[in-house]
Amino acid sequence: MTKLRILTYPDPVLAKKAEPVAEITPEIKQLIDDMVQTMYESDGVGLAAPQVGHSIRLITLDDTGPKERKNPMVILNPVFSDCTGKKESEESCLSLPTFTCKVNRFDSVTVKGMNEKGEDIEVKAEGLLAIILQHECDHLEGKTLVDHASRLKRTMYDTKVKKWQKD
Ligand code: NI
Repeated sequence: MTKLRILTYPDPVLAKKAEPVAEITPEIKQLIDDMVQTMYESDGVGLAAPQVGHSIRLITLDDTGPKERKNPMVILNPVFSDCTGKKESEESCLSLPTFTCKVNRFDSVTVKGMNEKGEDIEVKAEGLLAIILQHECDHLEGKTLVDHASRLKRTMYDTKVKKWQKD
């Protein structure tokens, strides 16, 4: 398994709507393994394929975190149904170093999709798991936390990122 390089904002791949995955090829299987590894080694609870440069509808997550690693999950072509309740969550993202933002999320969600074996799955989630699912699926729409932030907050982050690029 390889630790992949995580793209950071404003890489254009992060702003693109990702394409559905038609079948689990050996290349996709390898990508899934590498993404799970990369997520854990980067101390993340979720990762979306566009974050590692693949504009396809694939996410990996584990709400127990990189220390416990008890609930690894892979979902291809995720689609939401039955989203209920409201919850404000404070989030960060591996593609947005130092950035945090309060986001309005659903409290509980149901996601349908396909697992790494190509089987249809349905995940009912609430709490942290529901939030991670919504965060990662945002990435598949080309949306990141900066799109949830106020214009001022985004402008300030843009300035910071430009300064990093010069240094
Ligand atoms: Ni993210």
